[in-house]
Amino acid sequence: MSNLIVLGAQWGDEGKGKIVDLFSENFDVVARYQGGHNAGHTVQVGDKKFVLKLIPSGVLHPGVQVVIGNGVVIDPLALLEEMEMLEKAGVDVRGQIHISNRAHVIFPFHRMVEKVSEGREDRTAIGTTSRGIGPCYEDKIGRRGIRMADLLNPAVFDKLYDFLGEDKATTAKAFGIANDLKIEEIRESYKQMAERIRPVVCDTAKLLNDSIAAGKRVLFEGAQGTMLDIDFGTYPFVTSSSAAAGGACTGTGVPPTKIDGILGVSKAYITRVGAGPFPSEDFGPEGERIRQAGREFGSVTGRPRRCGWFDAPLLRYTAMVNGFDSLIVTKLDVLDGVPSIKVCTAYKVNGELMDTMPPENALMEKIEPVYEELPGWPQPTVNITSYDELPQQAKDYIAFLEEKTGVEVGCVSTGPERTQTIVRAGSKMEKLLG
Ligand code: IMP
Repeated sequence: MSNLIVLGAQWGDEGKGKIVDLFSENFDVVARYQGGHNAGHTVQVGDKKFVLKLIPSGVLHPGVQVVIGNGVVIDPLALLEEMEMLEKAGVDVRGQIHISNRAHVIFPFHRMVEKVSEGREDRTAIGTTSRGIGPCYEDKIGRRGIRMADLLNPAVFDKLYDFLGEDKATTAKAFGIANDLKIEEIRESYKQMAERIRPVVCDTAKLLNDSIAAGKRVLFEGAQGTMLDIDFGTYPFVTSSSAAAGGACTGTGVPPTKIDGILGVSKAYITRVGAGPFPSEDFGPEGERIRQAGREFGSVTGRPRRCGWFDAPLLRYTAMVNGFDSLIVTKLDVLDGVPSIKVCTAYKVNGELMDTMPPENALMEKIEPVYEELPGWPQPTVNITSYDELPQQAKDYIAFLEEKTGVEVGCVSTGPERTQTIVRAGSKMEKLLG
């Protein structure tokens, strides 16, 4: 009985939503462990397309229980809107979802604080999703945040809320920001939303551990990607949570001893949204071709994604900090018809080869990618569901990625549909999925 973590091996948007949706049928529970509605998981089921920001995509499988863990930050309005969208599509959300009473709550003033810090002239903007994610985590770590359990408890909520509201009003005043937040109105609307959420809030750490003890299988779903992790990403151009595998434990209350495998998701190339270093970025027509063919525009903000070539040193690093057992390579079909495919196989800084990911941005910015080129495949791979039927050049490309990253590629995705996926026979991934 394997409990697995599935998470992004790059800068997010690797296609985790589709993979988690597909794998969910092998699990009883799917748990999200960090981030908030900054994530955007697009799942295509037949002619229906779902963009899920907070709720794990496992919810699209009837009977699968989904958990939003304590490591997630929740905007109640975004949550209720997403629940409503799913209810309208006929999904039994209320029968499937469980929300941690320890998860922190996002308020409108968190967005205001984010605007202040992103807009400061003396600071390089991170290019955030403007959802108030960072400031909510700041309050969590600053030990003044408001958790779901507090929101549901009228005896403590008012006091905590007034303190936090005043704290933000002081910030607004200090920065000369017009404070048009209606603190009273917001308080009342949150109390009303709390009542709609109350029935699905519980101690999800207990629920998950009890489920595991009863022999149920849990899939842990990471949001964003390892290179956006607060500790291991390209700091400060990161999100504010622990997207790497360790976050699955701290963000759910399930101990590491109960996790049996870790699967990394990577595109067959690489993208990033927002600012920050990106060694293998392609600014030319080939990068643009990938953007158009891969429809690389943000599912939350609509921003065009920055595109580039598969970065093997980056993947070796994310494999190290996560301990990947196997890799899922998505969007292979986007490279169909590219005559020659580049792979960054090494980094050079100041003329010297580097074998690790530098911790400082100043060095990251100086990286010269060393490329090797592989022949592309002229024929389409879309819809291919058997590994053997892939063009030889595509198989060689996958083998090259395995060699350069040191990780097995256990699954390849050849289109957005559930059916357009190949799990390789005999792979470690196949065994872990059971
Ligand atoms: P924040 O998470 O809104 O604070 O944004 C911090 C950085 O993470 C920005 O560069 C965002 O573009 C990036 N980011 C946040 N969520 C996602 C995601 O789901 N996919 C890709 N990038 C993301």
